[in-house]
Amino acid sequence: MENDKFKESFKYFKSRNPPPDLSLAIDIDGEKHQNVLCRLTVNTSLLSPSLSSILKSEWDVFQFQPCPGLILIRNPFTPLGQRYFMARCLQNYPIKNPTNLQTKNISLEKSSWWEELQEIKDPVAHKKLREDLRWTTLGYHHDWETKVYDEKMRNEFPADLEFLVKEIAKVMKFKEYQPEAAIVNYYPLNATLAGHVDYSEKCNEPLFSISLGQSACFLIGGETKDIKPHPLLLQSGDICIFTEQSRFAYHAVPKIIKIEEKVWNEDKNNETQSNSMNLPEYFDTKTVEIVQNSEQWKAFDDYVSLCRININVRQVFKDVDDQNFVNENKKMKT
Ligand code: OGA
Ligand code: MN
Repeated sequence: MENDKFKESFKYFKSRNPPPDLSLAIDIDGEKHQNVLCRLTVNTSLLSPSLSSILKSEWDVFQFQPCPGLILIRNPFTPLGQRYFMARCLQNYPIKNPTNLQTKNISLEKSSWWEELQEIKDPVAHKKLREDLRWTTLGYHHDWETKVYDEKMRNEFPADLEFLVKEIAKVMKFKEYQPEAAIVNYYPLNATLAGHVDYSEKCNEPLFSISLGQSACFLIGGETKDIKPHPLLLQSGDICIFTEQSRFAYHAVPKIIKIEEKVWNEDKNNETQSNSMNLPEYFDTKTVEIVQNSEQWKAFDDYVSLCRININVRQVFKDVDDQNFVNENKKMKT
């Protein structure tokens, strides 16, 4: 393409030598970037009280003016909420779900990638296996080749993640949002994600994207690649919601940015006991215990201190009735 402004920006931010000027990336901070961020008032009292240990009660929510439909929530998670989903992405979600390890023919001796990683003491082999995991898919599994969702390629969507996203959708006043598919992306520091549009879903319901761990420079452009994209700085806990036009905008991750401060540990001197805590019934109490225990948390902390995790949640069907219709049809055929 002659006028690929998207690629130009991607190359600029990906470059190591010379490194990009990262101060160009827009921080989701109402004070610093008032010219492009328009604050939205949301009513977080709509949230189920059971989420009070996972999500904060005050959120900074913005519309990103240059890209109509793109909504940015600046880290609404408590430190515990971040650690909970980090641990779920590492220890649980890659089990019994497709991952790139299968497509790369990497076989595991232990029953899971995470368990095996804990066993490997040799630093070179440990780093290799740590960086081998790049994605897992949840719910309706994304087919990277055909880009078609198939009823036969489906596992149950994790109940905790479904509950979290539905509650956020409720605060945002989205009508009956149904999380049906997710891609969890794992990024070592040198990883990138090339420019693309997510069009497999065949419906224009919002897409929720949750960032955890290391930061990212994220590019969001327009309908074609000849529109110059805007660089955003996505930090741990930040949530982007792609609605309307922005759902079909080119986007990419040209750079992962190593950070010093670990916001997900900021409550560690003040651990709340899980038994006295309010927790949604769909949440995994064992995971809550692990992430409350400094010793057990350590291995997860080592991972997120070196990598970024992105949870990318989509609704696949237009509405809940549509999905029932598909399920009914399948039943009738078999
Ligand atoms: C995706 C995606 C962006 C990110 O999974 O489709 O665009 O922030 N991820 O990692
Ligand atoms: Mn995408």
